[in-house]
Amino acid sequence: MNILILGGGGREHALAWAIKQNPKCDRLIVAPGNAGIAMLAECAEIDILDAAAVVAFAEENAVDCVVVGPEAPLAAGVADALRDAGILTFGPSAAAARLEASKSFAKEICDACGAPTAGYARFSDARLAAEHVRRQGAPIVIKADGLAAGKGVVVAMSEAEALGAIADMLGGGFGEAGREIVIEEFMKGEEASLFVLCDGTDILPIGTAQDHKRMGEGDRGPNTGGMGAYSPAPVLTDAVLAQAMDEIVRPTVAEMARRGTPFQGVLYAGLMIERGRARLVEYNVRFGDPECQVLMMRLGAQAFDLIHACAEGRLGGMQVNWARDHALTVVMAATGYPGAYAKGSQIRGLEEIREDSTRMVFHAGTARRDGTIIAAGGRVLNVTARAASLADAQRLAYATVDRIDWPGGFCRRDIGWRAL
Ligand code: AMP
Ligand code: GLY
Repeated sequence: MNILILGGGGREHALAWAIKQNPKCDRLIVAPGNAGIAMLAECAEIDILDAAAVVAFAEENAVDCVVVGPEAPLAAGVADALRDAGILTFGPSAAAARLEASKSFAKEICDACGAPTAGYARFSDARLAAEHVRRQGAPIVIKADGLAAGKGVVVAMSEAEALGAIADMLGGGFGEAGREIVIEEFMKGEEASLFVLCDGTDILPIGTAQDHKRMGEGDRGPNTGGMGAYSPAPVLTDAVLAQAMDEIVRPTVAEMARRGTPFQGVLYAGLMIERGRARLVEYNVRFGDPECQVLMMRLGAQAFDLIHACAEGRLGGMQVNWARDHALTVVMAATGYPGAYAKGSQIRGLEEIREDSTRMVFHAGTARRDGTIIAAGGRVLNVTARAASLADAQRLAYATVDRIDWPGGFCRRDIGWRAL
């Protein structure tokens, strides 16, 4: 098969790595890709938000299956356009992608199907929103309704912080994404992520993970896109998993189908677990980044059999072949991230690292300049390891980190601490 992956981060490098190992894969193209992806696949410069351009490229290259990595093309209807053109596609329609693209839509679906989640109210008027915050008090959570590249959520520990976030979001600071806000009850507990393939009818859980969103050790400091992750997530015990599937995922998928907008792709349920019960924090309609890196490390080549079956609507007959293993990924970021950071610093030592099914350095934001790898983003490398225990995976990941010579970068040294 000729397979096209859309995206160019660590998530897509991990997808490409797993898919490339599957015997069904003849030709693999990633658009736009990055310097790490270019070592195992062809990279193509196309605008992945331009549905017509993606369809034309897929037709010209006789692509048999498209795997959409990030949320933006999904929200822009790229999967719809591909399916309309008769091209097999993994990823939800724009209508189903609203589960991520609109926080108030996700809440409305939870209401309709009875999925447990934080209590909420929606506002487009700043004065009414501020009154609501004064009535409810802090801590309280303020969210821009639309996609805001991970920056649209403020967990406000004080009323003043909440009022500031309201002024920011409804004051136009978030553009279209902030025309409406959702104000939520603050949920206590431990967070974990559940990844479920859905083909519109059948569903199949393919793994759990926990990430570390804060920049600093001990999960302190500013929020980031994720500084590391591991899989499985011990807090998602069999019992909690069953409850989350029964009360949250299955009713959501059924409600989406009932509305005539079935969900096809990977549903990523962000969960808050307190006293052995999960409530939904949010939905994403794609793999997490860096969670995908640990999931792909554990699934390996079978990932494409599952993705393929999902896209073809035959998940019902599929199962995951689980190994009793653990995977962990450490994000190496450019100094300054998540604030302003410099691009272009050289990264050395990558060629000497022997990569195999237990150790991979996925590239999140790199480029090649005069034969050397340089940093080209905030999150730059995802040093990923797999082993029989989480402690061994952590040791192998950090031993690999220590072989990378990159003075312009940093990482947290405690990824996995909650589970260890
Ligand atoms: P994201 O939307 O991925 O940027 O992440 C938002 C983060 O904010 C989540 O991962 C949670 O840690 C936190 N969060 C969102 N909603 C709530 C809530 N209702 N209660 C507590 N924490 C929340
Ligand atoms: N790691 C969180 C996300 O992908 O949204």
